[in-house]
Amino acid sequence: MNLFGKQTVSMTWDFPEANIFLETVGGYLPAAQYIADCVETLPWNVEPGAASQANAASNTITAGKVVSTDPPYYDNIGYADLSDFFYVWLRHAMRGVFPALFATMVVPKDDELVATPGRHGGKDAAELFFLEGMTQAMRRLAEQAHAAYPTTIYYAFKQAETTELGTSSTGWETFLEAVIRSGFAITGTWPLRSEQEFRMRGLGANALASSIVLVCRQRSIAAPSISRRDFMRELKDELKDAVQVMIGGGEGVSPVAPVDLAQAVIGPGMAIFSKYSAVLEADGSSMTVHTALTLINRMLTEGADEFDADTQFCLGWFDEQGWAAGEFGKADVLARAKGTSVDHVRDARVVEAGYGKVRLLKPAEYPSDWSPLKDNNTPVWEAMHQLIRALRNEGETLAGTLLAGMPDRAEPIRNLAYRLYTLCERKGWADDARAYNELITSWTGIEAASHEKGHLGSQTKFEM
Ligand SMILES: C[S@@+](CC[C@H](N)C(=O)[O-])C[C@H]1O[C@@H](n2cnc3c(N)ncnc32)[C@H](O)[C@@H]1O
Repeated sequence: MNLFGKQTVSMTWDFPEANIFLETVGGYLPAAQYIADCVETLPWNVEPGAASQANAASNTITAGKVVSTDPPYYDNIGYADLSDFFYVWLRHAMRGVFPALFATMVVPKDDELVATPGRHGGKDAAELFFLEGMTQAMRRLAEQAHAAYPTTIYYAFKQAETTELGTSSTGWETFLEAVIRSGFAITGTWPLRSEQEFRMRGLGANALASSIVLVCRQRSIAAPSISRRDFMRELKDELKDAVQVMIGGGEGVSPVAPVDLAQAVIGPGMAIFSKYSAVLEADGSSMTVHTALTLINRMLTEGADEFDADTQFCLGWFDEQGWAAGEFGKADVLARAKGTSVDHVRDARVVEAGYGKVRLLKPAEYPSDWSPLKDNNTPVWEAMHQLIRALRNEGETLAGTLLAGMPDRAEPIRNLAYRLYTLCERKGWADDARAYNELITSWTGIEAASHEKGHLGSQTKFEM
């Protein structure tokens, strides 16, 4: 039986399946090795560090310090409840050594900043407790931390509620509300790959792969307000560039994985929102964080006009039908609106059209002997799905070989993969979403293989 098995305790959560005798995560030896690695790199010849316990909402420890903090994630983990599991045994053994630490029968819970409905008498009351407590804790940081340095806050919480209207999350919203209310302006965000991809919550789900570091400074008391219309204009002007930087990656910087993009884009969006004392709606009320997040998220799916007409048609048809067949009449109207025709898209060999129906071909149905060098009608849609087929069937090397034959397509292909990921996630099409995510996460390898092959025209002996 597993160490902790599927036992029923007062909370239902993931359960560990670790085999402590194996040399994998959860095994005794790797765990000891992790600790040894840390101990080895400790700087022994500097001032010793110190640890003390305090409620963040009333602490004095942070006064005049540089603060980098990893706060609780809304209702993600009840640390105090979890600690009880161990505390009761530790208390037996260690009460005599640390009487102050083990003074209570169980772990103290009143000050814990988590939104636990059971503890606070309902979902709304739990949210209010978290918002007020977190605002107080953040205000404490904003007022006390060293003014010359930004405060950095780690936040790893996947946006949870995704609907046709957009993606939002109560956990995120409440947390950001607290940060902004406390007097902080978010001046930057750094997506950071930190969570192990094979952890329990990651299995079988498109789980978050990055944490976000929010970089905060105290907002000036003279910060002006702005109208909704001007806010939208600023979002439009600045977000597009910010997103391009995120998905483009760069020297030594990996592109943000599609699974993280919706969350990563919150940073630059919130930087605009939080530098103003308020964003004023037409009726004079202040825009809520919820509305701001919805508007920021919507920016991710706007601007499809950057693609060729056939790809725009495919995007629209996929949005409507997925991979299923739809009425020819409807497809015809959509194709005309995008400046192409069903015949033209069929000639590009990305749809099957006949008997009054039109259906997008799945990557597995694409011909495996395709070469960009021999195809003079290649919408980005086709190029990207050919890469997915090649990656799946034959790995990064072959996908890289295909990319070498169409180097100018690299950027639009990547943009399309991000866009399709966002669309699939919104629709709840997890398998498709995963395929687009995989293309991006393998991108560095595909590009390296493509460079190895040499770009079309740069090598005369190039063969496909
Ligand atoms: C996301 S965890 C930080 C984990 C830590 N970075 C680590 O790697 O172990 C958030 C922590 O905040 C603590 N916490 C909750 N409420 C708090 C409060 N009012 N004051 C200080 N810390 C609190 C939790 O007990 C938990 O340890």
